Amino acid sequence: MTVDPASLKLQIHPAACLREKCKPVEVDDELRAIAARMIEVMRSAEGIGLAAPQVGLGMRIFVCHVPPEGEGPPADDAPIACAEPEVFINPEILAYEGPPEPYEEGCLSLPGILGEVRRPPVVRVRALGLDGTEFERRAGGLLGRCWQHEIDHLDGVMIIDKMTQMSRLKNRTALKQLERRGRRGR
Ligand code: NI
Repeated sequence: MTVDPASLKLQIHPAACLREKCKPVEVDDELRAIAARMIEVMRSAEGIGLAAPQVGLGMRIFVCHVPPEGEGPPADDAPIACAEPEVFINPEILAYEGPPEPYEEGCLSLPGILGEVRRPPVVRVRALGLDGTEFERRAGGLLGRCWQHEIDHLDGVMIIDKMTQMSRLKNRTALKQLERRGRRGR
């Protein structure tokens, strides 16, 4: 498989690639180039996280950058931000802590849509880093929520599938418009 990282672009709902279940990947130079490009795409779209399906790739990798400033959901005592962009390869959720709580989320692949999603406040994740080494991390607040959101993407799951009933109603028109635009080829 060869991917030209420069050709990777943000994919918008209802693009079919957003609904695929991604496959585990090997860490090599090509993957490192893809990760670097994903960080660029995330930054230029002013997002805090981006998963491979959002640039059209069915690979189990996501990037995130949740800056320390700003408000977020409760975090217990877990880290809630990361100073630099981070890359998670073949990530797995090892444990959830605490009962699910609602918090408003958006998604770069769902412009104009914001809705409440219930998730556990703290999560523990295992993944490979860019050097191929396995690591385990725990996070809460916006960071823990971002990890859960991005790992959902790797299974073809989006916030529109998980939103509360109220948020579904609130976003119904915006979602229909997005889908109509998608069918027309944007
Ligand atoms: Ni998203």
